[in-house]
Amino acid sequence: MLKPATTARQPALEARLAAHFAQIENAHLREAMAYSVNAGGKRLRPLLLLATVASFGGDVTAALPAAAALELMHTYSLIHDDLPAMDNDDLRRGRPTNHKQFGTATAILAGDALQADALALVATTPVSAAQQVSLVAQLARAAGSNGMVAGQVMDMDGEHEQYDLATLRQLHHLKTGRLIQAAVSMGATIAQTPAATTAALAEFARQFGVAYQIADDIKDVTETAAELGKTPGKDVGEGKNTYVALLGLTGARQALADTLAAAQAALAPLGDLPELAAFLTIFQREEAL
Ligand code: IPE
Ligand code: IPE
Ligand code: MG
Ligand code: MG
Ligand code: MG
Repeated sequence: MLKPATTARQPALEARLAAHFAQIENAHLREAMAYSVNAGGKRLRPLLLLATVASFGGDVTAALPAAAALELMHTYSLIHDDLPAMDNDDLRRGRPTNHKQFGTATAILAGDALQADALALVATTPVSAAQQVSLVAQLARAAGSNGMVAGQVMDMDGEHEQYDLATLRQLHHLKTGRLIQAAVSMGATIAQTPAATTAALAEFARQFGVAYQIADDIKDVTETAAELGKTPGKDVGEGKNTYVALLGLTGARQALADTLAAAQAALAPLGDLPELAAFLTIFQREEAL
């Protein structure tokens, strides 16, 4: 489980998100955007960013706009992922999906606005101008045509094709891993970690990001709608390439354990980092053989 220091930062994060919504002028758009952001996500990516900043002595308060921006970008990806033309899901974060609640056009536009606002918000992070440019570029690249969106295209294309393990791992790295990697790398930029540390953190986050999507694949077949806040069993129904489909449940659990071990090995040379190490303990149920 995450450290109390990590979860104690959530109220400040929520306040920064609320401040963002408070300045959106169009009430219909504001309502649609806030509906999905405030539906009870785990806040993994922003909390990981803040934990990285704290682990290396950075200013956690200064990092809040970057953390909030990451959650806006992530939520946009969920709204569009759920659309009828994509995964066609009715339930997200325990609520009807954005398009079920507001209609497809508004859901697309709420996602568009969350994506653009994420980039505008991250640029307000009170760090040097060079760091601000780096943060904007990292977030945009993680989300864009060689990042999350490329992973989503591979995911959709894969509904008609069986991928091998290396291709599936790349899909998971892109669609889910890249935003998680951005959380750690943006945190490293804010805390101004030395280059060798930044490189080790990037490898840790790469492995952790893939592990996160392997665990998501496992939960799709092992958890209930009440536990997931989304409809289980959708991956088989949509013909998705997943670790469970390719390796079976036992094989997927082994791959998760192996990937977490690789993440731990990447972190080890950096010494004792209890807050970051704790992120590797959140999958104990999914790992259990
Ligand atoms: C869901 O992400 C989509 C994936 C990339 C696996 P999360 O499991 O972090 O969802 P929330 O943010 O808690 O709703
Ligand atoms: C999510 O993959 C990746 C995104 C970029 C949103 P999934 O399609 O498996 O996520 P869930 O299971 O719907 O949350
Ligand atoms: Mg999807
Ligand atoms: Mg989906
Ligand atoms: Mg899934």
